[in-house]
Formats: sequence, C-alpha cells, structure tokens
Amino acid sequence: MAEQAAKSDAPIDPVALRRAFGTFVTGVTVLTTREADGTPRGMTANSFTSVSLDPPLLLVCVAKSASSYAAFTASNCFAVNILHEGQVDVSATFASKSPDKFLSVNHDAVHTGAPVLTDSLTWFDCSLYNSVDAGDHAILIGQVRAFGTSPTAPLGFCRGQYASVKDPLPNGWLASHGMIIGYLVEAGERLLLRSDGKGGWVLPSARRRKADSQLMLDGGDALRLMPEETFLYSVFDVADSDPGYLVYRARLAGEGADVALPESLRFFPVDDLPYDAIATHELRAMLRRYVQERHAGRFGIYMDSDDGGRVAMIDGQARAWLQATHNQDQGQ
Ligand SMILES: Cc1cc2nc3c(=O)[nH]c(=O)nc-3n(C[C@H](O)[C@H](O)[C@H](O)COP(=O)(O)O)c2cc1C
Repeated sequence: MAEQAAKSDAPIDPVALRRAFGTFVTGVTVLTTREADGTPRGMTANSFTSVSLDPPLLLVCVAKSASSYAAFTASNCFAVNILHEGQVDVSATFASKSPDKFLSVNHDAVHTGAPVLTDSLTWFDCSLYNSVDAGDHAILIGQVRAFGTSPTAPLGFCRGQYASVKDPLPNGWLASHGMIIGYLVEAGERLLLRSDGKGGWVLPSARRRKADSQLMLDGGDALRLMPEETFLYSVFDVADSDPGYLVYRARLAGEGADVALPESLRFFPVDDLPYDAIATHELRAMLRRYVQERHAGRFGIYMDSDDGGRVAMIDGQARAWLQATHNQDQGQ
C-alpha cells in the first residue's frame, strides 16, 4: 500500500481527498446556461465526462455552493465549452464571482439557446437529459444537440495548476504550431486576396476557424461569412517554409459591395486573378484548381502527401447535416 493510503475506517479528510482527485489530469471547460430572463450564466468546470454515443450524452458536476447552481438546475439546456491553451484568462474569469463574466468573451446561441463561446477548442450545446443529486454537487447529464471543434491545443489542468498538453494531432495541424488558416472568400464572382506588403498577393488568414460566422482576420479586420457555406478546401505544406496551410472556402454574407475593405484587402474577379503576383507555386496551383472546380460546380478537398497529394471530389450540393442524416435513416 502506498504511504499516504487512507485507512478504510478512518474519516476521509476532504482537503486530502480534493488533492487526490486533483491528480487526475483533465481539460478545462466553461459551462454556460441562461436564467429564465435570458441572462447568460457561466462557470469554469473540469468535471466534464463523455458518457454515451447513442444517445449522445455527457455529464458535468455543479457545486450547490456555486452562485449559478440555481440557473443550471432550473434551465432545460446548457453548453460545455472546452478551452484551448490560450484561454487561461477565460478560465480565471469564469472561476471568479464577477457579475459580468460574459463581457470578455463572444458568445452565440446555436441550437438550444445556451450561450456557446465562439472562441473555444470544442463546444457541446446540450438539452438537459437528467440531473442527479450527488452530495454537495448535482450531476447534470446533457444530450448533445450540436457541437463544433477546432484544431487548437487544449488547456490542461492537474494538481490545481494549468498544464500544457502535448496534443496528439500531427505536428503542423495546430494553429499554435504555426499552421496558417487561409480563406478563399468569395463575393459576387470575386475572390478576396490580401497584399503581402511586397507587391504580391496571398490568401487572407485568420488565427483559427471560428464557430460563428464572424471571421477575425490576421491584421484585425472582421468579415461576416455565410455560416452554412464554409468548407475545408485544402491542406498543404509550402516548400522551404515552416508553417503549412489549412484552407477553407467561404462566401461573404451579402454580396460584398457594401463591405468597407482596408487597403491590404482587395477583391479580384475570379476569372482574372493576379497569378503572376501570387508568391508561391503551391498557392497558385490551389487557386487554379479552385477556379476550374468552381466553373465545374464541383469542389474537391486536397491533402498533401509525399507523391504530390490527393484530391477527393465531393459530389452534389452541400446539405444540412441534420437533413443528410435524416435522409440516411430513411434509406435515401
Ligand atoms: C480548473 C477549475 C475547475 C473547476 N471545476 C469545477 C466543477 O467541475 N464544478 C464546480 O461546481 N466548480 C468548479 N470550479 C469552481 C467554479 O468555477 C467556481 O466556484 C466559480 O466561482 C463558480 O461560479 P459562480 O459562483 O458564479 O457560479 C472549478 C474551478 C476551476 C479553476
């Protein structure tokens, strides 16, 4: 037996027990819900556990002493937002008693109406499936109604300290490891390019893919995209350059005519792109493929590989996921 083992008939010391629980390495989440009048409420929690795939269930434990306990147990929905490594400040805010925790974060209603933090590693929007009274906590079991995730590194927690986690995603997939997330943003037969400041043009880029339709570009400009029209397009490395590219195709909300653009961003006619001023041959090749596939009305997804890469063609129009799974269930 280990030296610190508690004897079975001895009373359990809660401080030592908390310390022992704390040796289990977890991520960090922010639980969110709304009061009856719509006021958002949230708290930091690491008691998250995945429970079931069919039906899709997860659980979290909320202390009866938390001031948002009543809001969580009265509401029929909540969201679990798993934090990424850059969100220690968000964890600290939501672990505090601050009355305006939501002022420092962007959030959106996605499915149930619970506030989903638009910048997070992963979010689950849940309806309340069951709640179980458990000592000084309540176990909330949520049924996942929608979720989203992004390729960033998680924030870890162990022994009461934030910890960095060696993410199992392959090197180069993590935004924090220098992956450039580029966007092919179209509006009315035109494609958006960004000046590289040296007379050349590159794709506009953002630090990470946003869960909502607001895209914060590197350089500080914001664009509003059609939320249902952003798809992965290409994943590739550029010769002699460290970071790889992860490229999405997207469409600007509206036709783009009314968007005031800074000098560094410019729309070019899709059929008249400045290929000679595109810095790398990988980007040029990707833009040529994009224009061709756009004319054919059929887009592929490109993945780099040692033998020159692979394009998987995607047939048909994009459909809502819920519609697609419903049709599958009906045998269509
Ligand atoms: C990393 C971390 C994990 C936490 N996990 C939980 C948890 O799982 N359940 C819980 O009730 N409180 C947890 N807390 C404590 C709450 O975040 C804290 O009590 C907060 O002040 C509650 O907010 P509220 O009183 O505004 O509801 C955690 C705090 C931290 C920093």
